[in-house]
Amino acid sequence: MNILITGATGFLGKKLSQDLVNEGHTLFLLARNEQKASQLLQSFADKDKTNVHIVMGDISQTGLGLAKQDLQHVQHKIDAVYHLAAYLSFDPAHKSQTFTVNVDGTKNTLLFAEAIGAKRFIYVSTAYTVGKEVAGKEELYSPERSFVNHYEESKCLAEHLVFSHSEKIEVVIVRPSIIIGDSRTGEADTNFGLYGLLKGLCVLKRRASRTPGWEKQTYRMRLDVDVQTNLVPVDYVTSVLVAALTHARHKEIYHATNPAPPTQELVIECIKEVLDFPNLQTIPYESTESFSDEESVFQSSMSIFKEYCTRTIHFPSDNTKELLHKANRSELIMNKALLISIIRGYQKQPVLT
Ligand SMILES: NC(=O)c1ccc[n+]([C@@H]2O[C@H](COP(=O)([O-])OP(=O)(O)OC[C@H]3O[C@@H](n4cnc5c(N)ncnc54)[C@H](OP(=O)(O)O)[C@@H]3O)[C@@H](O)[C@H]2O)c1
Repeated sequence: MNILITGATGFLGKKLSQDLVNEGHTLFLLARNEQKASQLLQSFADKDKTNVHIVMGDISQTGLGLAKQDLQHVQHKIDAVYHLAAYLSFDPAHKSQTFTVNVDGTKNTLLFAEAIGAKRFIYVSTAYTVGKEVAGKEELYSPERSFVNHYEESKCLAEHLVFSHSEKIEVVIVRPSIIIGDSRTGEADTNFGLYGLLKGLCVLKRRASRTPGWEKQTYRMRLDVDVQTNLVPVDYVTSVLVAALTHARHKEIYHATNPAPPTQELVIECIKEVLDFPNLQTIPYESTESFSDEESVFQSSMSIFKEYCTRTIHFPSDNTKELLHKANRSELIMNKALLISIIRGYQKQPVLT
């Protein structure tokens, strides 16, 4: 098939592009940055390069800002569009850009997909469009709910836009939870989610280790140990996305989530082991203990994630289970050993240092 992908230079997009090219598809990858586009192209094996075409554009512009020549290149040629491009920020100061890219950008991409005659539109949303609730469902949520941040709200509004075009184009929504590295290599080109925590803990350890005798001290972080955190390896998410290309039902929503998510206690145990940070301790959120300077700096940098660390959210995934079954693909099973190896793989990458 001929497939157009937005967000192909991103963490998930790179892996999805590789998987789709390995399946024999021809790709048209939208990129807005020449250097990233060229690096992306170089990442494909020589034998695949002829099946990969870069299209320069920006989803915040009408018609995605495509040059006439590129437009002709994709017109009446595209079987499916994967729309991944988004602005991933929880910072309230980035509200305007978050809505411009995630909501207006989705509208522009939908209109573009229709204009070039694409048959199917697969939108990558997030499981956290559930907002502040604790029970998810594989259905559209009302946007009249409390959200943790503008990112969640923008993705929920974008889902509604996608469904509002369902008379004109086949639409599918896939909602991943917190995406972590590849289950085989740990590779994870992102600072988002788990990797924000890992980076913060590396900094805490580095700062702490400047003090003589630091090994004998404990370093505390607030955490509700029993809360589950829904981590999914990037290759599981791309497996669901590839299956959706041929087996997803029109107007259906699929949770690319972990059916047996680890507790935060387990995640921290794995991180302590990988970072060799045994003197890291967790204390409950409601604790009134006072923090050292190093601990306070770390704690305040993590405060943006608090809403995700203090409640377990259940994400049913019956639609995804059925989808994977139809496509003869496996469901996710992530045990402690796998989690450790994913975190270990990431630690080798320069982004952490
Ligand atoms: N990472 C997660 O844990 C997670 C979890 C759930 C859902 N998701 C969803 O998965 C998708 C991919 O996430 P990711 O982690 O791969 O994000 P990412 O690494 O930040 O990649 C975002 C991609 O969007 C592109 N982009 C942003 N603004 C654009 C614009 N105006 N025009 C064209 N392209 C633009 C970026 O291009 P540049 O490279 O030029 O910046 C990049 O390719 C997003 O829709 C996100 O909401 C992610």
